Amino acid sequence: MEENNKEKLKDADIIIFGGLGDLALRKIFPALFYRLESGQINQNSKIYAVSRSQKSQNQFQKLLRDNLEKYLDKKSFKSVGKLINLCNYISADVTQDLALKELKSHLRDSEEIVRVFYFSTPSSIFGSITKNLNSLNLINDVSRVVLEKPLGFDSKSSKKINDEISEYFHESQIFRIDHYLGKETVQNLMVLRFTNGLYENAWNSKNIENVQITVAEELGVEKRGDYYDKYGALLDMVQNHLLQLLCLVAMEPPCVLEADNVRDEKLKVLKSLRLFNPNTVVEETVKGQYARGNISGESILSYLEDIGQFNSDTETFVAIRATIENWRWAGVPFYLRTGKRMSKRHSEIVINFKNVPHNIFPHSKSIVNNKLIISLQPEERIELVQTVKVPGPGGYRYKPKSLVLDYSSSFTNRFPDAYERLIMDVIRGNQTLFMRKDEVEASWDWIDSITESWKQIEMKNIIYNPGSSGPGNRVLLNGHIWND
Ligand code: BG6
Repeated sequence: MEENNKEKLKDADIIIFGGLGDLALRKIFPALFYRLESGQINQNSKIYAVSRSQKSQNQFQKLLRDNLEKYLDKKSFKSVGKLINLCNYISADVTQDLALKELKSHLRDSEEIVRVFYFSTPSSIFGSITKNLNSLNLINDVSRVVLEKPLGFDSKSSKKINDEISEYFHESQIFRIDHYLGKETVQNLMVLRFTNGLYENAWNSKNIENVQITVAEELGVEKRGDYYDKYGALLDMVQNHLLQLLCLVAMEPPCVLEADNVRDEKLKVLKSLRLFNPNTVVEETVKGQYARGNISGESILSYLEDIGQFNSDTETFVAIRATIENWRWAGVPFYLRTGKRMSKRHSEIVINFKNVPHNIFPHSKSIVNNKLIISLQPEERIELVQTVKVPGPGGYRYKPKSLVLDYSSSFTNRFPDAYERLIMDVIRGNQTLFMRKDEVEASWDWIDSITESWKQIEMKNIIYNPGSSGPGNRVLLNGHIWND
């Protein structure tokens, strides 16, 4: 696999806590495989999966191989042995003192070898893991810690976790991961905005009517019901992924592309978000839960059946009209929506421009607004919708037509998965695509204003059919029509 401009990284000891979990097997190990295969991860690196189950090294390697067979493409799988040979298993209950003694005997002590502790466990035990790493003196100057979301379940719990970790790791060593920031098309948002003067000039309330950010999934909660039921769509998706997308659309250009400059600008956006109260939350948010039904002819169980409970108020869909109170965005609503069991998997950002002030073609139908549609997945595409004349006689007839830039046909090289880029950034110590503590705090303040208001007014879920575009959000968000 040949790639241009890839820089070879320092040797690393990578320790994955929750090493047998779904995320590790589905995303982290495949990402490590592809980066090793491309020559970016040093062959002398070592990988340790830490988990509570008792397993021999052979049993672990077999389980890893079986999973990688599902998640790697067929051709790549042939060389999976290269990764498996670097992987070791350590069985430990990391919440117990000195449980990591065995790990200590393996780790190499050299300032030249980066040590990555990847916490892919529930965040409630991040503090104990950190304490135990510290009591065995495992945290050195070249150590970095990666924290998976969600960090807590509200401001208070998130602050507690951040404080516990900050006791032993410096902020420059902490990498709060949000995999949306590692997606190629999401990084392209910054390039699109900050290299094309054309857009920047129109990127404000004078020219933009509204912004719509959608992350729709066809999948349900799969086997993650226990986790999901504690969090719901707001904490699972909006607190992190959707807010990060909103920041990238709304932030001011940083003066340089350095981690803190980018994060300073995102923080300003988060701090400008208007908080909700019990009155506004009714008007400006919708929450829903999927019922039993079918998608494309396939029967789908309801959320309650999926999680095996009769009663749960957890939302699997949320739509929000967010307001950014600053000069650039005054009066421009940002509509956010995300849900499970929707009609299809699609994530997109739609910038709806204002219409022309006056139509000089009075006999034709009304003019459609210009739209910039940035599709993030499954297709990576940028589409600019504009009105053009329909050729031929018959007066001025016009129609909206799109200029389309299709990423996959414009660039034929492989698109690395988000985790590949982000894990490499951890090893090279680049925090640009990771959230700083104050960013996380600001996003929790806004999210708390929603959850607390929902609680106060006992806001109910609206039940929606699988395969739909959610529960009546067209009507509820002040009659605003989403682009479906
Ligand atoms: C995760 C959420 O962070 O993102 C999942 O926990 C969700 O519930 C997933 O399915 C979506 O990620 P992607 O990359 O498939 O859009």
